[in-house]
Amino acid sequence: MKIKLITTILISITLFSCEKDSGPYIVPPTVVPSVSFSTEIQPIFDSYCISCHDENHSYLNLKSCCSWYELSATGYNAPYIDTINPEQSTLYKRITGVIAPVMPSTGTPLSQNDIDIILRWIDEGAKNN
Ligand code: HEC
Repeated sequence: MKIKLITTILISITLFSCEKDSGPYIVPPTVVPSVSFSTEIQPIFDSYCISCHDENHSYLNLKSCCSWYELSATGYNAPYIDTINPEQSTLYKRITGVIAPVMPSTGTPLSQNDIDIILRWIDEGAKNN
């Protein structure tokens, strides 16, 4: 009798927990990006990069027509953007000189603020916003 009761209880528990199994258990965090690609990142490219990185550059066109799409693609020292490990992004490694030559390769270097904002943009998912 006791065994029957225990078995019934165990079966009920199992069935109950199955019913409760209807997730979602992991609710993805809603990251609201603080950096805007079009108003904060593209202007950096416009000022420091497109003199070389235009449609004639063999790897990477950073003009506003194309920059986000080209950066989203896989680069020569791939990938340009790594949102899981932002510091491993080729874009970031180039602007910090981890991969030489540091970009921009001539002229005024990027400010630390510009470098930080590009890293933050990648960290927030590199949105085309
Ligand atoms: C004076 C010209 C010049 C300027 C200005 C310049 N670049 Fe470059 N960039 C190059 C050249 C040339 C290469 C290829 C060199 C190499 O791979 O060794 C390159 C390569 C790169 C690469 C690697 C491409 C790949 O597929 O591996 C990235 C990323 C990059 N540049 C980003 C930038 C950014 C961002 C800026 C502006 C902050 C910039 N560059 C400014 C000339 C320039």
